[in-house]
Parts: sequence; C-alpha cells; structure tokens
Amino acid sequence: MMTLRKQAAAFVLGLLCTQAGLAASVVDGQRIYNQYCIGCHGPGGNSAIPNAPHFSRGERLMQPDMMLLMTIKSGKMMMPSFNGILRDQEILDVIAYLRTLQR
Ligand code: HEC
Repeated sequence: MMTLRKQAAAFVLGLLCTQAGLAASVVDGQRIYNQYCIGCHGPGGNSAIPNAPHFSRGERLMQPDMMLLMTIKSGKMMMPSFNGILRDQEILDVIAYLRTLQR
C-alpha cells in the first residue's frame, strides 16, 4: 500500500504534468498562424488587409485569452469562424503567439 507521502507526491506530480499539458506553445502557435491567419493579419502581425487589427501594435489584445478564444471560434465581421477547424488548444497556442508580436 502507498504511504500518504508517496500519494501526496504522486498527486503533485500529476498536477505538474497537467499544467505542462495545458501550457500553450508559442512554436505551435506560430505554425498555425502562418497557415490560417497570416493572409489577413500579415507576417509578424502587420495586418495585410484593411480592418484587420495589427497585432504588432498590440491591437485588440488587451483582453483575456478566453475572450479572444471565443471571438476566434465564432468569427467576427470579415473574419471567418474557426470553430471545427482549430481545436481550443490550437487557438490558445495562436493566442500565445499573438502576444509575442507586439513591438
Ligand atoms: C479573412 C481574413 C481573416 C483571417 C483568415 C483571420 N482574421 Fe482575425 N480578423 C480579421 C478581421 C477583418 C478582424 C476585425 C474584425 C472586426 O472587428 O471588424 C479580425 C479580428 C481578429 C481579432 C480581434 C478580435 C476582437 O476582439 O476584436 C483576433 C484576436 C483575430 N482576428 C485573430 C485571428 C486568428 C488567430 C486567426 C487565424 C486562426 C485569424 N484572426 C484569421 C480577419 C481575419
């Protein structure tokens, strides 16, 4: 039988692994951005079309990840919905990447 200390250690380890699994990946985010977003939001977040925010200037990024996630999933005006195209984790990866673009 496991001692209480071993159980506690296993519990903490589990928590750490879960956190690591949920952590957004900027590297994956960049790959996804270059595939799905760059056409409008431009290389490095310098918008390529009128009306699309410049992430290089931090535009529209002053909101929580969960708000951005909802907007990207549902789409907005000229921006298509990515619901069913990208998984939530992938969208969170892209958001992490967007947050690195501000100059
Ligand atoms: C077809 C062009 C197009 C594509 C592709 C596109 N966007 Fe957009 N996006 C826009 C436009 C235009 C807006 C501004 C919408 C508005 O407010 O009128 C926008 C707005 C946004 C916003 C700001 C939302 C807000 O709260 O106002 C975010 C964040 C965003 N896009 C992220 C992304 C991501 C991430 C991708 C790729 C997965 C992506 N976009 C793909 C055109 C596009």
